[in-house]
Amino acid sequence: MNPVVALALAGLAATLGLAGNAAAATPAELLSGLQAAAGAPGAGDRGQRLFTTTHGREWSCASCHGSTPTTVGKHASTGKAIQPLAPAFNAERFTDPAKVEKWFRRNCNDVMGRECTAGEKADMLAWLLSLKP
Ligand code: HEC
Repeated sequence: MNPVVALALAGLAATLGLAGNAAAATPAELLSGLQAAAGAPGAGDRGQRLFTTTHGREWSCASCHGSTPTTVGKHASTGKAIQPLAPAFNAERFTDPAKVEKWFRRNCNDVMGRECTAGEKADMLAWLLSLKP
């Protein structure tokens, strides 16, 4: 193929999000983005408290992910296994921004009855990143 055409097609694929890892990120990059949006660094102690306590509803984040999300959790209603949420124990976690946003939205709504703020997400991700083997 003519190299100029190939380049144009590659650019188009990237624009459309068709290039495999176009949207991949590292957990540290996602944390930086959340901290920038919140205008403050994430605080792991606050994140742990948010994650392990209830917020006026039946479930906490820990109800499904476990209060130390370094091992396999269990879905509070379906009983299905949930792989560890802490990135040091599960290399796939916090590498797909769309997946992260989708589940933050859904799970914060279930647990808090609203979306989490960027600051709350930064706090929880800072705590999750502090968990090491
Ligand atoms: C009712 C069960 C349940 C509760 C409660 C819950 N989660 Fe989850 N969470 C899931 C399931 C199911 C998935 C998707 C399956 C998977 O990725 O293992 C998931 C995935 C995620 C992901 C995607 C991470 C990634 O990169 O793969 C994040 C972030 C997350 N949850 C955060 C939270 C936070 C924060 C809370 C508390 C506000 C919470 N969850 C409460 C069940 C739950």
